[in-house]
Amino acid sequence: MKSTEEVHVLTPSRPSHQTSMAPIRTHLRIMRRVSPCVTLLCLLLVGYGWMDIAARRTGDGSEEWGYVEVRPKAHMFWWFYGSPNRVEDPSKPWPVVLWLQGGPGASGVGIGNFEEIGPLDTYLKPRESTWLQKADLLFVDNPVGTGYSFVEDSKLFVKTDEEAATDLCTLLMEIFNRNETLQKSPLYIVAESYGGKYAVTLALSVLKATEAGKLKLQLGGVALGDSWISPEDFVFSWAPLLKDVSRLDDNGVKKCDSVTEKIRQQLRSGQYTEATASWSELEGLISTISNSVDFYNFLLDSGMDPVSMEAGELTPGVSMKRYARYLSYLKTSASNAGDLDTLMNGSVKKKLQIIPANFTWGEQSDSVFSSLQGDFMKPRIEEVDELLAKGVNVTIYNGQLDLICATKGTEAWVEKLKWEGLETFLSMERTPLYCGTESATKGFKRSYKNLHFYWILGAGHFVPVDQPCVSLDMVTAITQSPAST
Ligand SMILES: *[C@@H]1O[C@H](CO)[C@@H](O)[C@H](O)[C@H]1NC(C)=O
Ligand SMILES: *[C@@H]1O[C@H](CO)[C@@H](O)[C@H](O)[C@H]1NC(C)=O
Ligand SMILES: *[C@@H]1O[C@H](CO)[C@@H](O)[C@H](O)[C@H]1NC(C)=O
Ligand SMILES: *[C@@H]1O[C@H](CO)[C@@H](O)[C@H](O)[C@H]1NC(C)=O
Repeated sequence: MKSTEEVHVLTPSRPSHQTSMAPIRTHLRIMRRVSPCVTLLCLLLVGYGWMDIAARRTGDGSEEWGYVEVRPKAHMFWWFYGSPNRVEDPSKPWPVVLWLQGGPGASGVGIGNFEEIGPLDTYLKPRESTWLQKADLLFVDNPVGTGYSFVEDSKLFVKTDEEAATDLCTLLMEIFNRNETLQKSPLYIVAESYGGKYAVTLALSVLKATEAGKLKLQLGGVALGDSWISPEDFVFSWAPLLKDVSRLDDNGVKKCDSVTEKIRQQLRSGQYTEATASWSELEGLISTISNSVDFYNFLLDSGMDPVSMEAGELTPGVSMKRYARYLSYLKTSASNAGDLDTLMNGSVKKKLQIIPANFTWGEQSDSVFSSLQGDFMKPRIEEVDELLAKGVNVTIYNGQLDLICATKGTEAWVEKLKWEGLETFLSMERTPLYCGTESATKGFKRSYKNLHFYWILGAGHFVPVDQPCVSLDMVTAITQSPAST
């Protein structure tokens, strides 16, 4: 981030707002008023000549975004939203949530922001359950090559979670080191799916960098939502779970067993790339014998998704794309309206002004996935243990209906932790969760010392989409947000 320029045609200032909806209206106004400036900027931003003005903010300062060149020719895109409810009270610090999407190669700026927790949905309508009510939100397209992030040389895609964490740490230095307000705000790393592997690796890098004085921020905690922390445990959970809910029979389980056994052998002998191929084979097999169960919600068929008709192949690239399509399926639109690709390659790209004109959102994401195939099946349980031992708050949450990162698999890896509090944690009773005015049980929670586990009922892989009310309560508790309810 070399400099920050105001976009002068935007609303220069706004009165303080009473409700969280007001800045969203401002945001919509911005989207309409931005075009004269775009024309001017286009003259300035030919090719990659934009790098000396790599960040922008809205006139009211509530949003800021930009590129950080995390390594030469590797450009990471970030988008920060300041909460309209922020209170400055030293005894109750205002939290910042960094959202890490999975994939690998799925865009947090697109999916997490517009489909899950950001202030606007894909129709650019306000989202009632936005987490912005409770915290500032920082979205990133991580690793480079994801979403709007890009590399100018294909050798620069990351090959390990560790490399991704190093790039993310560089990004955080650019954003936090020059802003004292943000340094007083604890950072909560909240991850989904593969993002959990980056989250724990990043948290350890952050602690190292802050101890060395290179990074100025306070780590508030880590939250692992339906996270791919132990691939082996998830792979082994699939067939028994599907058998228990009648989606597979004994014959199907036997077929799966031969592939899972192969995966176990490959992991034991360190053949991680081969294990990634077998993982893909197992997904394909399960898809066939279950008649296309949806991996993000085992009560559904993936065929229910009108745009994923070709998803039967389930190569890693294809299943990664299904991730975004699953969310599109939840919509009922016959046109392109509300389609995430159209939005991100259209009006959002225009608003942001700094995305290279010839670059399409998500165009390098398959390469991001393939580049990580040697690390994809490696577990990160030890990293969770390290964080617990260092006293970092670790929250795990899981949707009841998820298959790909099933609760059964999550519980299996949690039981492998070496953390001294584990035995007590496992023996404790759970607290039931309710939400709003509903009397139905929405989930359960168990906390001991710095480990917290939420079981979210009625949710698949995308917990904030399926259960927005209880998710918002959960993020309020995780971040100890001072926002009044
Ligand atoms: C976009 O344009 C730049 C400069 O003109 C070029 O170097 C780059 O390869 C192009 N990128 C794509 C994805 O076409
Ligand atoms: C620092 O962050 C705060 C909180 O989001 C923001 O209001 C402020 O404008 C930022 N300051 C600079 C210099 O970017
Ligand atoms: C993205 O938008 C550009 C400009 O409108 C268009 O030419 C291109 O085909 C779009 N790409 C995709 C993948 O939709
Ligand atoms: C961890 O979270 C709890 C609330 O759940 C809080 O009381 C405690 O201060 C947090 N610990 C750290 C080290 O942030």
